[in-house]
Amino acid sequence: MSASDPFVNTLRKFYNDVGDKYDRGQMGEWHQKAADILVDASGSSVKEGSWVLDLATGTGNVAFAAAAKVGPSGQVLGIDISENFLEHAKSTATELGLDTFVEFINQDVTHLSLPSKYSGHRPFDAAFCGSAVMLFPDSVAIVRKVATELLKPGGIFVADTHGSIPGAVFFDIVRSKGIETVLDPAWGTQPGETLRRVFEDSGMIVKEIISNPRSTGIVKWDVRTPEARNTLWENTIIKAPWVSFGMKISAEELAELKSTWEEGIMARAQSDGFIHDDIMHYVAVSKTKN
Ligand SMILES: C[S@@+](CC[C@H](N)C(=O)[O-])C[C@H]1O[C@@H](n2cnc3c(N)ncnc32)[C@H](O)[C@@H]1O
Repeated sequence: MSASDPFVNTLRKFYNDVGDKYDRGQMGEWHQKAADILVDASGSSVKEGSWVLDLATGTGNVAFAAAAKVGPSGQVLGIDISENFLEHAKSTATELGLDTFVEFINQDVTHLSLPSKYSGHRPFDAAFCGSAVMLFPDSVAIVRKVATELLKPGGIFVADTHGSIPGAVFFDIVRSKGIETVLDPAWGTQPGETLRRVFEDSGMIVKEIISNPRSTGIVKWDVRTPEARNTLWENTIIKAPWVSFGMKISAEELAELKSTWEEGIMARAQSDGFIHDDIMHYVAVSKTKN
């Protein structure tokens, strides 16, 4: 992959470092479950023989869930910037004997340039983007390109995002202070509405937004002590690429932001000193207009 803009490159390094941890443990189980939810939401649009595009495929969770439906008479193409994730995806495809119809390529979705087999016509019946549309600096432009150049008329696009309370509190402050970010803070404060708006602004018809708590159960964020709040800040804000990587602020501004955020999250704590967060999951199902 050629060197892209600095934000995308930072994301690429972040996901390369995550490596095989991504598919392990409770979150690994959730990633697979989420992939099934996305493919189920596409309904009869994905069937035997369908052609499917999976943007930001990662280790291929959505691509493999789709492959189970389309079978060898179909075609699945997964695209990602992380070489490490793609290595996992390719070896899984080989192990499962799916590599004759499941292909992975290393590209930034902002600068899509597909092999000739896929370009020059609109070959795909369905496109997916699992847990990544909020990571694209210009998500509207990417969805519009997929809808007008890659999906068949009437083709379907399914994508999801999440909302957590620590992130919502953070982005609310970012927005009120007018801090510059690469990604839209509305992904943190109004995830479901933002998902809808991106697809509508891209010229697609949003058929439905499905919203449910994430199936991993309620998360109890400990905010009882300064140490606990610091850990929460590090884990949910500083280490989360969709949050901190897009911020353009000085160390002093960051420290000020942190103390305002601490006040905000303490105000959200229940009497036991924990924030009870069911982490909402939003899935948008959209259709091309023609
Ligand atoms: C949270 S992971 C989701 C992976 C996968 N879709 C899933 O549902 O398990 C986000 C993925 O987005 C990819 N990504 C982020 N920005 C990208 C871009 N501009 N082009 C291609 N991939 C990108 C990352 O490399 C990472 O694999």
